[in-house]
Amino acid sequence: MQEKLKQIAAAAQAEIITDKHTLEAFRIKYLGTKGIMKEVFEAFKQVPNEEKKSLGQLINVLKNELETLYTSKKEAFENVSEQASNQDDFTKPGIKVPQGNRHPINIIKNDMIAIFERIGFTIAEGPEIEDEWHNFTALNTPEDHPARDMQDTFYIDSNTLLRTHTSPVQIRVMETQTPPIRIITPGRVYRNETISARAHCTFHQVEGLYINKNVSFADLKQTLLYFAKEMFGQNVDIRLRPSYFPFTEPSAELDISCFICDRKGCAVCKGSGWVEIGGCGMVDPAVLENCKIDAKEYTGFAFGMGIERITMLKYGIDDIRLFYENDIRFLKQFA
Ligand code: DAH
Repeated sequence: MQEKLKQIAAAAQAEIITDKHTLEAFRIKYLGTKGIMKEVFEAFKQVPNEEKKSLGQLINVLKNELETLYTSKKEAFENVSEQASNQDDFTKPGIKVPQGNRHPINIIKNDMIAIFERIGFTIAEGPEIEDEWHNFTALNTPEDHPARDMQDTFYIDSNTLLRTHTSPVQIRVMETQTPPIRIITPGRVYRNETISARAHCTFHQVEGLYINKNVSFADLKQTLLYFAKEMFGQNVDIRLRPSYFPFTEPSAELDISCFICDRKGCAVCKGSGWVEIGGCGMVDPAVLENCKIDAKEYTGFAFGMGIERITMLKYGIDDIRLFYENDIRFLKQFA
């Protein structure tokens, strides 16, 4: 019987299996209900008991061999037929890979960075969790100063807060670097405001700071004019309105001429022909001194602009909440 098993194994290995049909014939011949293995098991019943153990093992080995041979061929044929059908049918529609795109806030932020980098500004960043010194005190806003009410603050504890503007980064840079300093600081800020179409509890600003000898208000104005024209088009003009910020003296609000109606008056500029995009001014000497910079030797200008505001103007978006809802229908318009 052992000899017979060897012959079966050799014959099975020698079978020529080229396709699904010859494979099925193989299965019926060796593993089918009336196949060779069935005969072997029948013959096994007649084997004397003392031979049963060793012979039984050999039979199992043979059966496994045949089954392995069968399944490996079967899998090979299945793969081949799949490949063939994919390769052959060039009329099948392709598989579309979904492609993401930048968030509109990031697009405009990167544009703003590129514009200021062209005139020598570098990027500085600071923490979003700030202390009172950097967010208020060093920026010439002492405790009990009414200016603190201008910005509704999220406090973490009495000394720690979510920064209400990017101006604290000015302080961090001036504390650690010596002039000349020429930085912009894009980043996220937080305010405890009621959420509406025009206001959100979190938004983004780009702060600018230039400290050197003989920096003048004219330098500030020229820098902002350059930015406005690069960002909104060469026909755009700027206007500076006297204002108040604790950290600048003099201070101004920055308006650009309305590029949507070309200053004729529309819904966006509310008929005035001008839209506000930020604040600016000459760095208050007290702020320089807080950072150990000699205010007799150095002067500087600073500005802060809202990225959401500029993005809404650029793209004609009328609700700030859209930026944070992650609605794919909104976001994919900026691809
Ligand atoms: N930090 C101000 C705000 O968030 C904006 C600002 C105004 C920044 C004037 C400045 C500045 O650097 O000079 O309302």
